Amino acid sequence: MSHSIKQPNMQDYDEAYANFSWKEVEEAFSWHESGKVNMAYEAIDRHAESFRKNKVALYYSDEKRDEKYTFQDMKYLSNTFGNVLRNLGIEKGERVFLFMPRSPEIYISMMGTLKIGAIAGPLFEAFMEQAVFDRLENSDASVLVTTPELLPRVPYKELPSLKHIILVGDGEIPNNSKDINFYVYEQEMRKASRELEIEWMDREDGMILHYTSGSTGKPKGVLHVHNAMIHQYQTAKWILDLKEDDIYWCTADPGWVTGTSYGVFGPWLNGASNVIRGGRFSPEDWYSTIEKYRVTIWYSAPTAFRRLMAVDEEGIKQFDLSSLRHILSVGEPLNAEVVHWGRKVYGLSIHDHWWMTETGGIIVSNYPSMEIKPGSMGKPFPGVEAAILDGEGNEVPRGQMGHLCVKSGWPAMMRHIWKNEEKLNGYFEIPGWFDSEDLATMDEDGYIWFEGRDDDVILTSGERVGPFEVESKLVEHPSVAEAAVIGKPDPVRGEIIKAFVSLREGYEKSDGLEKELREFVKKGLAAHVAPREVEIRDFLPKTRSGKIMRRVLKAWELDLPTGDLSTMEK
Ligand code: WT7
Repeated sequence: MSHSIKQPNMQDYDEAYANFSWKEVEEAFSWHESGKVNMAYEAIDRHAESFRKNKVALYYSDEKRDEKYTFQDMKYLSNTFGNVLRNLGIEKGERVFLFMPRSPEIYISMMGTLKIGAIAGPLFEAFMEQAVFDRLENSDASVLVTTPELLPRVPYKELPSLKHIILVGDGEIPNNSKDINFYVYEQEMRKASRELEIEWMDREDGMILHYTSGSTGKPKGVLHVHNAMIHQYQTAKWILDLKEDDIYWCTADPGWVTGTSYGVFGPWLNGASNVIRGGRFSPEDWYSTIEKYRVTIWYSAPTAFRRLMAVDEEGIKQFDLSSLRHILSVGEPLNAEVVHWGRKVYGLSIHDHWWMTETGGIIVSNYPSMEIKPGSMGKPFPGVEAAILDGEGNEVPRGQMGHLCVKSGWPAMMRHIWKNEEKLNGYFEIPGWFDSEDLATMDEDGYIWFEGRDDDVILTSGERVGPFEVESKLVEHPSVAEAAVIGKPDPVRGEIIKAFVSLREGYEKSDGLEKELREFVKKGLAAHVAPREVEIRDFLPKTRSGKIMRRVLKAWELDLPTGDLSTMEK
């Protein structure tokens, strides 16, 4: 029953790929006989009933709090929250949304929600009214867990399905009306029992709803099911490289899929100790967090690493980062430059890998046992087939660009776009395949290289240019912190390349520097990919998950509507 981490970790990629079977992974779980599952049971209770009972599941700290919770603590607290929901009459399949700053209560209420079979909907705390409304309305959520501070951003009077609001922390509580009831989290938790009958689910039952933006329309609700655990468990084990004594820190917010699949599920399915740090990013805070907890595995994003690059090596030496043994990055291109920097300052390679909200789990990765080619996202996970296809679904020759597609049927694949079957079908137009709309190439050795989103590729004077290539070059220049490159319509050349850059500390905007950057790309790559225009800006618009929003820059540049900005960091 106990599936301690006894399988050896991946020793050899080719061998693992050739011999892999998801069926064998399933047998590691306790449910393979009954067929019934519950993610929260596998992530929490199973460990609470094992030798890991008193192991710390969650270390939490922010400016005001410093706490830790064992697997047993998490079991009882999430049971209690499950009972709070049951006492309100909430049933399997209903949507319970969580809209809070990072805190232990998010993790407790998420697990409690799953235990009674309801679907959890995490929302990023920085969302403003329209973004909150769109998601609660589309999902017909019946419960919202939030804080008194965030409540003014919840237009609950306009949300007829929303019946209950549970408020975490101190603050003013509005009066109940016939349409909505307010509760105080602490009070309800005190009243509820810590013994709970878990709702046993079918593997295909809904578990979590993540809203994500596409290139058109309102954000779409990507639904994942309990079955995703098979994938999240095994990828966490082999890619995060979790071992019994590891202290694992995923910096992503649970409002985004990285913060759940690999901030909650993957590590806890493996019985790992999870560090959660609240508050804002600063290099000092992050490095102190690694030092304080002796973090061994650190999962973050290129945008964070690039910001950390601004700290000079003397600054880094003030912190004891010697506990680190494995570093990972996801979400946007990890420029080769950043990998080289990581090797220099941490003495470790940052492991890039690729997946999407829609895939629910990692699809392509660099593995601890595999040689890294800096700038490449690595190779498909065992049990997953990924290929570079053309519009007709034919594999393109090695080295040529096409869409990165995944053979339909991997365990963590999204099952629905909430109330939008048409959008779902849009991903599967190539029969049997999921089309990511990411442009990529595969080299002779089977490594996959990211080239850009399909819609971002630039055609200039008949040449096809991936913005990432140009951006990677630009960030190699000592003055450049971040870069984004777009195609700008041009009557003669089709499009010209325009680059937006932000500078590292100590550099000033000047015409001379703009010219120098252009020359730098021209000299480093090729004349036709050198941006004809370079604009230095104080900041580049980004999603909360750290992706630079080229489409927003393009819209600003061309004076066009920017579309949905709800995921933009302000
Ligand atoms: C899109 C998915 C991965 C979970 C968090 C983001 C881009 C993702 C990489 C990478 C270059 C990457 C793709 C993808 N992306 N990983 N390693 N290198 N680009 O999930 O918000 O759904 O975004 O992020 O364009 O399609 P998401």
